[in-house]
Parts: sequence; structure tokens; C-alpha cells
Amino acid sequence: MLIQELQVKKELIKGLEDMGFERLTPIQIEVMGPISEGKDVIGQAHTGTGKTAAFAIPVVNNIDTSINKPQCLVLCPTRELAVQVKKEIKNITAHMNIRSTAVYGGAPVVDQIKKIRRGSHIIVGTPGRTIDLIRRKVISFSNIKTVILDEADEMLKMGFREDIETILESANEDIQMLFFSATIPKEVRNLKNKYQNDPIFIKTVTDEVTSSTINQSYYIVKHSKKVEALERILSIYSPKLALVFCNTKRMVDEVAGQMMEKGYNCDKIHGDIKQTTRMDVLSKFNKGVIDVLIATDVAARGLDIKNVEAVINYDVPEKEDYYVHRVGRTGRAGKQGYSFTLSSYRDLERIKSIERYTKKEIRKRNIPTAERVLDVKKEKLVNTVLDYINNEDLTEVDGLLGMLNEAEINMEDAVKALIMMNNNFKAAAYEEDLNDEFRKKSSNSKGKGKGKGKRNQSNPDDYDRYYIQVGKKDKARESDILGAVAGECKISSAEVGKIDIYETFSFFNVVTAERKNILEKMKNVKIKGRSVSAELTRKRK
Ligand code: CDP
Ligand code: MG
Repeated sequence: MLIQELQVKKELIKGLEDMGFERLTPIQIEVMGPISEGKDVIGQAHTGTGKTAAFAIPVVNNIDTSINKPQCLVLCPTRELAVQVKKEIKNITAHMNIRSTAVYGGAPVVDQIKKIRRGSHIIVGTPGRTIDLIRRKVISFSNIKTVILDEADEMLKMGFREDIETILESANEDIQMLFFSATIPKEVRNLKNKYQNDPIFIKTVTDEVTSSTINQSYYIVKHSKKVEALERILSIYSPKLALVFCNTKRMVDEVAGQMMEKGYNCDKIHGDIKQTTRMDVLSKFNKGVIDVLIATDVAARGLDIKNVEAVINYDVPEKEDYYVHRVGRTGRAGKQGYSFTLSSYRDLERIKSIERYTKKEIRKRNIPTAERVLDVKKEKLVNTVLDYINNEDLTEVDGLLGMLNEAEINMEDAVKALIMMNNNFKAAAYEEDLNDEFRKKSSNSKGKGKGKGKRNQSNPDDYDRYYIQVGKKDKARESDILGAVAGECKISSAEVGKIDIYETFSFFNVVTAERKNILEKMKNVKIKGRSVSAELTRKRK
């Protein structure tokens, strides 16, 4: 159905046209009628299918602009989502006299109160702050005709049930209640039975849980080699925008730290990062300023992130439906997308269970060899050179060329030197085969194996990895950490493996035999003036 065929106010259609909408999505088409008629609705559709506009269009069309009071309340699980939904509504109503306000914790309540008092028709809020404003009598239900739970499943999973019930209970009996959700678990059904009146259930999810436009594969790789594997995958596929998922905040920190250090245009989002920073990062990613975003599931949930060409599961997700949500970030609108999962041997069983859940095969692949990566880099260089020759004004560097001539430098040598300067075309640095099977097969013959003698950590499996909150910012050096660990725990520095220092934190490895010792002694230890405690990372159980 074309946007122009919608039976709504002209100004609304104009807003949708400005947003670049051409057609309604299936969920939008199906809920339009019942919502306009004032019925209670449960809408179930996959992430990214336009659920926001599905409720926003009919609701906005029904707002009475002569009353400058809240007429619609939308509840969202996170602050980012509240802001995003508000923005979408703002765009839709760009040509209408409708104001909307987002309310969430972590920002001054006075500003939000002012905005609402100035006359706001639609409130989009997180449950906590919304309750606060209801108690302060800033939001009253006297004119609210519709309450919407967006991402209802996620809100309940996050433990907002009581808050939601408190809010729904303050609403009058005849209020219209709309629930939108990607899945309808028991908790959502309970809420429906309790609060909705004869709801109409609309489901546009197909049996296909993951889209067939996503090319899904996995690799078997040891944890300690994952960053390198990630680099190789990025080199070979060079996705314009890649979303990397980790299972924990700490892992996001670790991977982002390493990738930044290697010079990737990347950033990260997770729950411990300040709200404003997160929004910033997201907009940088959407604008293509950064091209690799590293995130936890929760931080990325429900956010409208566009044009992701590849999703990389740095960790195999703990739950099948997380996998579905993750890979659903790519291959949207019929475009080709890729998903790559880095799995350890241990996690193979989880890959199999995801396959059963999605009823789709995830293809096993070998991590590209260093040689292949190098070939691709060379091809890219040749293409870039051609591109420059065809499209850039090369006369600008004639002066420099003259200087090279004067210095009697052979042009071929000069080209070689320039290539060496700008790109790492030496294969030697990463020849290693990263596929874990090879390790598996040869590991019977115990002993030295293929470990490279960095800080004599010959077999990473014999080491624990610890996280410590001191880093470059504190001017911590390897010797400071080594000294503290060896000194406090009375162990020889030979028992300490690799030490990685990042901006605000570091990791160090110590032989597993010393675990108890380290955890006991490395508590409130002073390093570079900071009192820090070592925490064991969850490398493997
Ligand atoms: O909530 P859900 O995950 O279903 O999706 P969303 O956050 O509403 O995102 C849908 C995206 O598709 C937004 O960027 C919309 O602007 C865009 N879109 C839409 O919602 N409806 C259309 N008819 C066309 C585009
Ligand atoms: Mg949504």
C-alpha cells in the first residue's frame, strides 16, 4: 500500500513522504484499521519492520490539537529507545501542530516537566521516570486516550513489570492499550489478559526467524585468537558498517580497546557508558564516521541502526533468540547481509542449538588465511591507485616528484617504499592458521605446540586472564603491573604471562595454579597511585 493511499490527514502524509517512506510495511497495514477504531491491539513483528510508525501513524492522526495535554503515552524499555521513538514521531508530525516529549532518568527532570507543561500531546518515556512524573501530577490521565507498550517483551524481561502495572492501573478502564513486541512470551500474555479489552492479535512474523538474505557462517577459533580472526574477516569482506556483539560489557571494552589500538574506526556501546555518549556513538555509526560498532545485546536492542552490512558474533550468544536479534540487524529491506560467528570448541553445541531454533544452516568456514588477506589487500590497493589516477588531480604532487628525481631515487623503488610505508604488506606478521581444529589435532602431542614466545606464555590455556582498573591514563606500564603482581603475590615474573594495557584498564595473565593466590592478594593494591583489585575474566569455565 502506497503512503499516498493512506486515509489520514494530508500533513501526516507529507511528513511520511519527507521521511522517504514509499509503502507501508505489513504490520503497519494491518494495525492501522483496528487502532484507528480505538480497539486494543497486540502487534507482533520482527525488529526493523516499522512497529514505531505502525502505532504512531494512527495515534498521531487522532490527536486533538485544540487540547494541549498529553493524549498518548508510549512506554519504552531504555532511554535510547525513548529518544528514538520520540524522534520518529517528531519526523512523522513535522508538518502537524503536535508536540512530543521524551522522559527518562539520568536527565534533569525539571527540563522534562517544563516541556510537558508547555503543552505536549505525546509522552514517550521509560517506566521509572514516567511513574515519577505521574506522582508529581505532571502527567495526568485525564486526556490520555492511548497507552502503548513498545518492545513489551524486553520491558518485562528487564524487570519493569511492576512499574508497568502501576502505570496501567492509574489509567481509566476505557483507555486504549496497544502492545508491540517482537515475541509474545507468557509475561506479555499475562499483561494482556489483565489489562486489555478483547484485544486484536496481529502477527506478521513469518516462520522464517532469520531472513534468507543473510549469509550466515561460523568459524572455530580459540578465544585468544578472536581479535585477529575479526581483523581478517573485516579485511576480506570489508563491510561498510559492521556490528560486533559480545556477551559482556567487559568483553566489549576489551575488544574495542584492542581494535582502537590497531587503528580501526570503531567505538562501543554498553550499559555502563553514559547515555549522551551512547547516543553520540550511535549517530557517528549511522553517519559512517565509525565503521565498526562493538556492543552488548541489551545496549543495541530495538535501536534503529541502518545499513549494517555484517554482524559479527564475537561471542556465541547465550540464548537462541539473541542470535536472531543480532543477525536481524543486517540483511534488511531485502539487501544482502552477512553474519559471522566466532565460536570456540566449547560453544559448538550452542551453534547447533541455534541452527535447530532458526531451522537454518549456519555454514562452517575456515578463517581466511593470511595469504588470502594479503591478496585482497593488494587487489584493493591496485583499485585505489586506479581510482586516484582516474579521478584525482595528480599534478598537485608534481613538486614532490621533482624532489624525488633530484635525489636520484628510482621511481620504482619510490613506489615500493611508499607502499611499504602505508600498508602492512608483509605476510610474515600473521602467518598463523587461526582455525582451532589444528590446535585440537596436535594438542595430544602436548608440549611447546605453536605458541609464540611472547612473555614466555607458551600455552594460553594454562593461564587465567585478569582485569584491573588501571591503564595508560594513569601512566601504568607493563613493569608496574608485573611488579605489583609478582611482588604482592610473591610469585616469579615467569609465572606472569601477557600484559595488555589500555586507556583506562589493563589485562594480565598468570598461570592458573596461582589463581587463589592472585584473587586473595591482588585486592586494593596500589598501582600508580590507584587502589585496584584484580578480577578474573570469564575466558573459559
Ligand atoms: O520497531 P521496529 O523494530 O519494528 O522498527 P523501527 O524501529 O520502527 O524501524 C523501522 C525503520 O524503517 C525506521 O527507520 C523507519 O523510519 C523505516 N520505515 C518504516 O518504519 N516504515 C516504512 N513504511 C518505511 C520505512
Ligand atoms: Mg521498535
